[in-house]
Amino acid sequence: MEFKRWKNLGEILPQEVEEFIGSFGKKEEILIEIEEYAKREKVPILLPSSAQLLRLLVSTLKPKKVLEIGTGIGYSTLNIYFANRSSQVTTVDSNRKRLEVARSFFKRAEASIKVVESDGFDFIREELSEGRKYDFIFIDSTKGEYPFFNYKVQALIEPGGMVVFDNVLFRGYVAGRKYERRYERSVALLRLFLNQVKEYPNFRSYLIGVGDGLLVIENLVYNGGGGSEPGFLRD
Ligand SMILES: C[S@@+](CC[C@H](N)C(=O)[O-])C[C@H]1O[C@@H](n2cnc3c(N)ncnc32)[C@H](O)[C@@H]1O
Repeated sequence: MEFKRWKNLGEILPQEVEEFIGSFGKKEEILIEIEEYAKREKVPILLPSSAQLLRLLVSTLKPKKVLEIGTGIGYSTLNIYFANRSSQVTTVDSNRKRLEVARSFFKRAEASIKVVESDGFDFIREELSEGRKYDFIFIDSTKGEYPFFNYKVQALIEPGGMVVFDNVLFRGYVAGRKYERRYERSVALLRLFLNQVKEYPNFRSYLIGVGDGLLVIENLVYNGGGGSEPGFLRD
């Protein structure tokens, strides 16, 4: 499921609002080039309001280890990297052609980013079997697959860490906006996913109406001074 972003910037917020947000504030020259490439070559990238929030989260949290599933041509990856250059960023995509483009942008930005060509699920399985964890995970891959990331990301995120999923509101269809019949399955899977996420023990989820809908999941289990002191959720 890929969205025709180059035709319509406004999925939830009106197009002119996204455009205004996109032109607000300072932006690295290479990000503008990637935006132009995406428009020209019809490749989906993060919407401006989502890019801003993602950047704010990373620059505030300063995560040590970041994992991204769904590199595309590297627009979100570079937003993450520029938000905190000392984060170790690993980005995964199964599309070789897009990764080649992303790699060339990373090289030009002199950004040291680990690029992995793999299916996201295979990669996560491998990381879990090696006991590796991340402080921040950004997932922007096939929306219908989100329910299958569920337990895996809970195991992969460090205590106090954060997981962000893009496109969870799917143009507002998930929240009740009218949609065509062909989107029924995707909408149902995203609703299932959001219902599952609400039940994660010791996690708090925030559903943010920017871009195409960002879901921010915070792992509330913190490591206390000498041992682990879980910050359990209380109703
Ligand atoms: C919307 S694009 C990513 C855009 C990118 N995050 C950005 O803002 O520049 C989605 C990407 O996810 C990749 N993808 C989809 N399903 C995947 C999977 N299961 N494993 C790895 N990559 C996947 C696609 O190849 C595609 O490049």
